[in-house]
Amino acid sequence: MNYQVVPMDRSHIPAIAALERECFSRPWSEAALSEELYNDTACFLVAEGEDGTVLGYAGLHVILDEGYIDNVAVDPRYRRQGVADALLDVFCRFGAEKLAFLTLEVRASNTPAIALYEKHGFYEVGRRKDYYDDPKEDALLLTREWDR
Ligand SMILES: CC(C)(COP(=O)(O)OP(=O)(O)OC[C@H]1O[C@@H](n2cnc3c(N)ncnc32)[C@H](O)[C@@H]1OP(=O)(O)O)[C@@H](O)C(=O)NCCC(=O)NCCS
Repeated sequence: MNYQVVPMDRSHIPAIAALERECFSRPWSEAALSEELYNDTACFLVAEGEDGTVLGYAGLHVILDEGYIDNVAVDPRYRRQGVADALLDVFCRFGAEKLAFLTLEVRASNTPAIALYEKHGFYEVGRRKDYYDDPKEDALLLTREWDR
């Protein structure tokens, strides 16, 4: 499977919004995604197939030396082929250069995502009770830190 990791642009947004609706009970809308194109603190990446297909995407916000990962999602047709690995590699290489830590929330039952993040050096630092709706569930707070 050939793809490259590129910055999100306007052409990707309908497909990313569709992926959001498929993956999450509170999906980001096209309007919310579009706002990130103009947000200096945002870095949204797309794994793009040869014909421009969106295989997956990931979003990061950076405030000073702190990185907050908002979204990581891969189209079910392209999962288990290293796409999320490739997206997180970019954020972690950036983190190793520039950040004190990367952090994120994940549903406590989301075993694939937790395994993904643990593979990339994240570990549990806390739990937010009933953080998610539809269905109600705790969030695990995962972090990867770099010594500065
Ligand atoms: C979680 C998700 C992004 C993984 O994407 P992916 O491209 O299939 O993941 P990769 O193929 O890059 O796998 C990387 C690692 O993630 C873990 N992983 C991925 N899918 C897994 C699964 N179904 N079961 C267990 N571990 C899994 C493994 O550690 C894997 O490494 P390995 O292949 O060496 O075992 C994808 O399942 C997804 O989009 N899920 C729905 C959206 C979501 O829950 N996003 C996270 C929100 S916080």
